[in-house]
Amino acid sequence: MPPRNSPHPPRSNKLVPYLAFIVFSAIFVFKVDIIISQAIFAARPKLQDTSSTLVISNGTFYRHFIISWGETQTRISEDGELLTLSLDNRTGSGIESKKQFIFGKIDMQIKLVPGDSAGTITTYYLSSEGDHHDEIDFEFLGNSSGNPYTLHTNVFSQGKGEREQQFFLWFDPTQDFHTYTILWNPKCIIFYVDNIPIREFKNTEKLGVPFPKDQPMRIYSSLWNADDWATQGGKVKTNWTLAPFTASYQNFTADGCIWSYGTKSTSCNETDFLSKPVLKMELDQRSRMRMKRLQKERMVYDYCKDKWRFAKGPGPECRIN
Ligand SMILES: *[C@@H]1O[C@H](CO)[C@@H](O)[C@H](O)[C@H]1NC(C)=O
Ligand SMILES: *[C@@H]1O[C@H](CO)[C@@H](O)[C@H](O)[C@H]1NC(C)=O
Ligand SMILES: *[C@@H]1O[C@H](CO)[C@@H](O)[C@H](O)[C@H]1NC(C)=O
Ligand SMILES: *[C@@H]1O[C@H](CO)[C@@H](O)[C@H](O)[C@H]1NC(C)=O
Ligand SMILES: *[C@@H]1O[C@H](CO)[C@@H](O)[C@H](O)[C@H]1NC(C)=O
Ligand SMILES: *[C@@H]1O[C@H](CO)[C@@H](O)[C@H](O)[C@H]1NC(C)=O
Repeated sequence: MPPRNSPHPPRSNKLVPYLAFIVFSAIFVFKVDIIISQAIFAARPKLQDTSSTLVISNGTFYRHFIISWGETQTRISEDGELLTLSLDNRTGSGIESKKQFIFGKIDMQIKLVPGDSAGTITTYYLSSEGDHHDEIDFEFLGNSSGNPYTLHTNVFSQGKGEREQQFFLWFDPTQDFHTYTILWNPKCIIFYVDNIPIREFKNTEKLGVPFPKDQPMRIYSSLWNADDWATQGGKVKTNWTLAPFTASYQNFTADGCIWSYGTKSTSCNETDFLSKPVLKMELDQRSRMRMKRLQKERMVYDYCKDKWRFAKGPGPECRIN
């Protein structure tokens, strides 16, 4: 097996033992390589069985989440399908998914704190860990009775956020469950409310803006007190005589790639990225127009237009998003 592209094909007999050694080594390395890759291949399905399914529909909270804090303030119904988080004057509460995802579409149905929810914040977001973390946020800022909730969104990449957009909803989010969706793939992040896109954050790496794509994220949700800033800039405080404040969750659905900690690999392969709609979709022109119209009516804050905060102009992604 002489090297085919060698510029100096061996002619001298002196080279024979040397060549034999090279050939022998090459075969040995090749064999070992095959053995190793067979071992990895054999180990893989086992690890994936315990750590990954691509689609979780109507997921139960017992199976897929752990309570991260405020245990006394969380309840999961017997069948595991309804979760409530509460907040009182001692503590709020929060949950996080057991699994980590790297790309996917996550749906959650939420019914927010009714009545006077001023000072409270209900969150639902994806986040990675560590100093340069990525994060995709839905946060619901409560309000005094009769005044609208503010839906706050943000995207962090490599630890940098400051990309807030805020909306007023077109329904009362405390009366019924509504579906809040994060779609995250290598091309874009899309926020949906009841399947209507409200925000798109495109991958603008070509403009030098880091995009979340290398760090797996967990799903989090929490309810806590932020009356120092949340409602009307902190002017309206939480009315603790109304505690406990409660938000409800149901029908959690995830369709995406699950990160396996053990093998440091994702459950999705190249074929999935080429074929699975959630992993390759972007808004089409029509949906984007519709989103722009909705933003015109419903968006109450846009960091891209905040000249006061960003005197030097907003991030380059604002030219495209
Ligand atoms: C919290 O609320 C309970 C019941 O309303 C009350 O008894 C208690 O004093 C409050 N604690 C604090 C620290 O405000
Ligand atoms: C609460 O209602 C007031 C009055 O409509 C509004 O200005 C404010 O943006 C609302 N949301 C929050 C979080 O304060
Ligand atoms: C707090 O809620 C109680 C009970 O509804 C009400 O009587 C009181 O006026 C509220 N306080 C404020 C500051 O709104
Ligand atoms: C989830 O599935 C169960 C049946 O397994 C069904 O009874 C329940 O209504 C479903 N819940 C939702 C929110 O779809
Ligand atoms: C549960 O969520 C899925 C995905 O968002 C949706 O298709 C389904 O209709 C929901 N079920 C109920 C009972 O809302
Ligand atoms: C990719 O994964 C899918 C399952 O999601 C599987 O059916 C398919 O065979 C895999 N393809 C390759 C090339 O490994």
